[in-house]
Amino acid sequence: MEADLRSGRDARLTICRLDEIPDGGARGFTVETASGVRDILIVRRGDTIFAYENSCPHVGTPLDWVSDQFLSEDGSHIVCATHGAQFRIEDGMCFSGPCHGVPLPPIAVKIRDGAVMLAES
Ligand code: FES
Repeated sequence: MEADLRSGRDARLTICRLDEIPDGGARGFTVETASGVRDILIVRRGDTIFAYENSCPHVGTPLDWVSDQFLSEDGSHIVCATHGAQFRIEDGMCFSGPCHGVPLPPIAVKIRDGAVMLAES
């Protein structure tokens, strides 16, 4: 059963369909959360997704210079385009670069009926 993406509470929380994010890839979105409008990125690994604020902990710039270009060439980690910081996909932790040891702020998301949704109430 597909989620109703057109109206009601689910529509407010829905970001996209899962199949709109390439498996092994990432996309950026602007979403409205309880704490305001935020730019986020979502990485997909099969039926698992990881979402973070699209803001580098180093100086706060968006991670992507080119839209939706968030990952390293081999797709193994997230890269900041500004100064090259590298982040683990699984927990957003920076393991290399000027913000080493500082994670990307996580965004709570879930998959329901093929839709990627904010997990907040
Ligand atoms: S702004 Fe991301 S590494 Fe400097």
